[in-house]
Amino acid sequence: MDKRKILIQLDADEQASLFDRVVAVDAGAEVLFSHAGVQPEQVKDLVHGAIFTRGPKDLKSTAIFIGGSQVAAAEQLLRSALSHMIPAFGLRVSIMLDANGSNTTAAAAVRVATRHLVLQGMKCLVLGGTGPVGRRAALLLGSLGAEVRLASRDFKKAQEACKEIQPPGANARPLPFQVSNSRELLEALHGCALVISAGAPGVRLIDGASLKQSADLKLAIDLNAVPPLGIEGLEVMDKGAQREGIIYYGAIGVGELKMKTHKACIRKMFEQNDLVLDALEIFDISKTV
Ligand SMILES: NC(=O)c1ccc[n+]([C@@H]2O[C@H](COP(=O)([O-])OP(=O)(O)OC[C@H]3O[C@@H](n4cnc5c(N)ncnc54)[C@H](OP(=O)(O)O)[C@@H]3O)[C@@H](O)[C@H]2O)c1
Repeated sequence: MDKRKILIQLDADEQASLFDRVVAVDAGAEVLFSHAGVQPEQVKDLVHGAIFTRGPKDLKSTAIFIGGSQVAAAEQLLRSALSHMIPAFGLRVSIMLDANGSNTTAAAAVRVATRHLVLQGMKCLVLGGTGPVGRRAALLLGSLGAEVRLASRDFKKAQEACKEIQPPGANARPLPFQVSNSRELLEALHGCALVISAGAPGVRLIDGASLKQSADLKLAIDLNAVPPLGIEGLEVMDKGAQREGIIYYGAIGVGELKMKTHKACIRKMFEQNDLVLDALEIFDISKTV
């Protein structure tokens, strides 16, 4: 008989994310061990507790979810956790990173885009591209062969982010763009069929007039659910709404696929003990939901 499904939640925040806990239960975790305020040096004992308690054939019933609001800290926890698994002896458990929803949100946004556009060779713009969601969206678009433009208010910041993004199978990294006014926005949008607006909550990045002047734009996706939304004229609930030749998705419109993807990833972890679910792997799972 299979052991009970234990999900170990590692969270760098002082209080473990309740959102992550609820989704874990809804996805089928039978027992949830939540650890808050986790520091990288504490991860070794936690991972050893996970991998030394059940035999290798039962380790698929133990998994680790790294969440919380601090994406950089979560990435450190993931690196640390992986370094303490012992795969040579089959002593490992599946692990997923989705701090601040960054991986599942980017995966859902790009998955939505693939339903409408063939992204290979297509020019795409990611606004707010230096944030955790934007970086991941740029990575995924690049992995599909898109010609990705990554925008920031600050060119150097965009350049730094682009240097850190290496889409597998792609010849090129994203191209950095500075977008701090309407003229720069129009230049960045020129030739783009897709824009993903991944700016901070409550920040408008595209005004209606610029949108109207972007003749090549076919699909606009906004991930900001806090008014004012990232794209003027878009509604937060938009889910494939068409207006004046552009298809729109708002944050809640993308959110349903994001949530399904999150739960599918947790279920998948309980099928085998050797998964590492980061941006690319989570995107692959988003294609199955
Ligand atoms: N639907 C969901 O379930 C879900 C889940 C996760 C995230 N989200 C949403 O996805 C979006 C991106 O998330 P994130 O965590 O990557 O965002 P973030 O790190 O807070 O911000 C992304 C980028 O926005 C730019 N920005 C920040 N303040 C700005 C301002 N005042 N004016 C113009 N640009 C500004 C910054 O880029 P530069 O400084 O380089 O310009 C920043 O790197 C957010 O709106 C978030 O709420 C949605």
